[in-house]
Amino acid sequence: MTTELLQDKPAQATPRKVFLKTYGCQMNVYDSQRMGDALASEGYVQTETVEDADLVLLNTCHIREKAAEKVYSELGRLRKLKQEKSEAGRELLIGVAGCVAQAEGKEIIRRAPVVDLVIGPQTYHRLPRALEQARRGIKIVETEYAIEDKFEHLPVPDKKAVRARGVTAFLTVQEGCDKFCTFCVVPYTRGSEISRSVKQIVAEATRLAEGGVREITLLGQNVNAWHGEGIDGRSWGLGELLFRLAEIPGIARLRYTTSHPRDMDDALIAAHRDLDVLMPYLHLPVQSGSDRILKAMNRKHSHDDYLRLIERIRNARSDIAISGDFIVGFPGETDGDFEETMRIVREVGYAQAFSFKYSQRPGTPGAELGAQIAEDIKDERLQRLQALLVEQQQDFTHSMIGREIELLIEKPGRQAGQKVGRSPWLQPVIVDEKLGDIGEMTRVRISGAGFNSLFGEAI
Ligand code: SAH
Ligand code: SF4
Ligand code: F3S
Repeated sequence: MTTELLQDKPAQATPRKVFLKTYGCQMNVYDSQRMGDALASEGYVQTETVEDADLVLLNTCHIREKAAEKVYSELGRLRKLKQEKSEAGRELLIGVAGCVAQAEGKEIIRRAPVVDLVIGPQTYHRLPRALEQARRGIKIVETEYAIEDKFEHLPVPDKKAVRARGVTAFLTVQEGCDKFCTFCVVPYTRGSEISRSVKQIVAEATRLAEGGVREITLLGQNVNAWHGEGIDGRSWGLGELLFRLAEIPGIARLRYTTSHPRDMDDALIAAHRDLDVLMPYLHLPVQSGSDRILKAMNRKHSHDDYLRLIERIRNARSDIAISGDFIVGFPGETDGDFEETMRIVREVGYAQAFSFKYSQRPGTPGAELGAQIAEDIKDERLQRLQALLVEQQQDFTHSMIGREIELLIEKPGRQAGQKVGRSPWLQPVIVDEKLGDIGEMTRVRISGAGFNSLFGEAI
């Protein structure tokens, strides 16, 4: 840092304000928090009101065309705001971060000249310096890959910030993807798979626990591809890591997401059997039930491989809830292929699921394939699939009624006198506020169900 920059700071009368908007997956949520932490140490405070901001950061998602295009409509709105502010003599810097930043780089500034800086998902620790430059009118594009660098310099929240974020937290343990599913941009936007060290992960989890966090969700694009050198000097996978994290005082619950079926090893399945703090919920996307389409997607497993895997997992932990992701209308998908997807859904029985129409992504092998599927066929298939998935999800929700379950109380409810906890299966449960303080575990009987949430009462 130059001396000039150091002299800048004391002159700052009121703190600068940043408005952070997050799109996409949980990893972006985690990254936005880290950007918030990096900016906090530069004196920025966060604001929920975009009009108050001196800096707007959009943390973007490139996964489907719609997600990527949202950013440009938001930038259109921000152009007006920046103009108004500038007329009033106030500064507004606009930054685009995340996967669109990585995928499109300087093209973003060409399409939306209102943008001052473009910063890829591996370069957030360089944010303060990039801002100084942007403030001098230099347009910044920082999209070099350096995930090791990111993990080395991850901004750390102070205890107050951890507390303010509540009793559940995300913790990235792995980033990037080497799977190259033919529909997906993630290997290009997040780079190749890299794991954080056990030491770093344990240190971060301990800090979170000391700040009052009771439940940690480990994150990775392929979280179960995480591997590292264990404290016993042996090579560890996610299963071993979970056992280590379970020893941290204060941690009552562990989860992880997102997993790839090919990386579910024996140790991880054993953790579901033997580790009480590991919650009985697994997000395990299959995408399609058709062997032909699975092959074209480069998923490297078959319909039956997936079913056998689910069976092994359920043998280890009978009450585990399975959640999934599905894509309809991948190039070449016939009615018969789609029926195979419907079949696998019926065979597995999902507690929760996300389903999407295939979106052609520039630079992916899928985009080059002929036999793209017409929009109306995709719509029709998606409707049928979602109807089945909603039915299964509703069945699962209603199967809770009358059961006694353990909750982690997470936050105040929307209505006075209520609090909201979460079941082991990720369902929000509304209870009387007297049933427990935020951060406490409590047992309740499920007395009723809404569409997405449950109601619990004292036992
Ligand atoms: N790493 C995770 C998921 C990444 S993206 C995994 O491997 O499961 C989240 C979901 O978005 C994917 O599971 C997939 O269902 C969906 N998705 C990814 N690319 C897509 C595309 N081009 N069109 C439609 N859906 C897509
Ligand atoms: Fe994308 Fe496939 Fe990697 Fe998941 S495993 S991030 S779907 S390429
Ligand atoms: Fe989207 Fe990037 Fe996550 S493309 S889903 S924000 S990894």
